Amino acid sequence: MNDNDSTSSRKLDHVRIVMDEDVAAKGIYTGFAAYRMPHDAVPELDLAAIDTSTALLGKPMRAPLLISSMTGGAFDVARINLALAEAAQALGLAMGVGSQRSAIRDQRLAYTYQVRQVAPSIPLLANLGAVQLNYGYGVDECRRAVEMIEADALILHLNVLQEAVQPEGNTNFKGLLQKIELVCRDVGVPVIAKEVGNGISAQAARRLIEAGVWGIDIAGAGGTSWSEVERFRHSTGQGARVAGAFAGWGIPTTEAIRTVRAALPNILVIGSGGIRSGVDIAKAIAAGAVGYFQKPVDIDRLLSAIANALF
Ligand SMILES: Cc1cc2nc3c(=O)[nH]c(=O)nc-3n(C[C@H](O)[C@H](O)[C@H](O)COP(=O)(O)O)c2cc1C
Repeated sequence: MNDNDSTSSRKLDHVRIVMDEDVAAKGIYTGFAAYRMPHDAVPELDLAAIDTSTALLGKPMRAPLLISSMTGGAFDVARINLALAEAAQALGLAMGVGSQRSAIRDQRLAYTYQVRQVAPSIPLLANLGAVQLNYGYGVDECRRAVEMIEADALILHLNVLQEAVQPEGNTNFKGLLQKIELVCRDVGVPVIAKEVGNGISAQAARRLIEAGVWGIDIAGAGGTSWSEVERFRHSTGQGARVAGAFAGWGIPTTEAIRTVRAALPNILVIGSGGIRSGVDIAKAIAAGAVGYFQKPVDIDRLLSAIANALF
């Protein structure tokens, strides 16, 4: 099996594992349940007049919602990206594709990420792992990822814990900030730094912004745990036990949103990780995630569109 085959089979493993296994974080919570929105019995407003529309990267959106980067890179998952993109286009949302590393290696896989034909006007985000900048990737590869899908911005994901417990993980994280700075300077589109479910602290966010990153997706803890996902990919009991020890690791979503927003009042903060309902979304925005919420999003319609797209 060459490296590209193994990247594709990892993508399929990930989709299968998140659908079939319990990969939720354990003993750590997003924190949304601990917050109550203030109830106002006399709001003096007309619900029908409320407008959730906003804009990202110069493109209009009907609600401040992003379908997080998830997949691509294998024949069987191409239809997931297409279905998600159709839903995003129909509902006026933004979308990210999963890590494009496999298609950088093998251009024949590019089509598994290409969704512009069904989503011509959404904000669309390319995706690569920041750690790859220590494994032969540079500005050229980042530019290719953006061009491959006609993206409006590039997400560099920071998945330190996942790489550390992954059987075939890339674990040299030294000197990355300097390389991220070069990408931000030369890639030609805004760069967003994103975790994958363990959260970004105020200090880490500040260093990333100083390096030239435009926005932060805090992807906090309490939802999907990527050490739990990797636990299911280990063939040895020892590897699985090490991964399992981190099921409660990270910065809860609400804490990450609050602290990053307090430290950096004027940047784009995407509040994700364990978002389960429209009420969670409202609380994320109240805690400091980007945008404003003036009319409830029809979350049932949104979820059923995504469910229909997926299954
Ligand atoms: C099947 C699957 C694949 C994912 N692949 C990527 C990826 O390639 N790049 C990335 O930045 N995040 C990836 N993620 C992480 C999500 O974008 C998100 O940050 C994470 O799952 C935490 O959010 P959640 O608790 O709502 O699931 C993936 C998530 C899932 C479920």
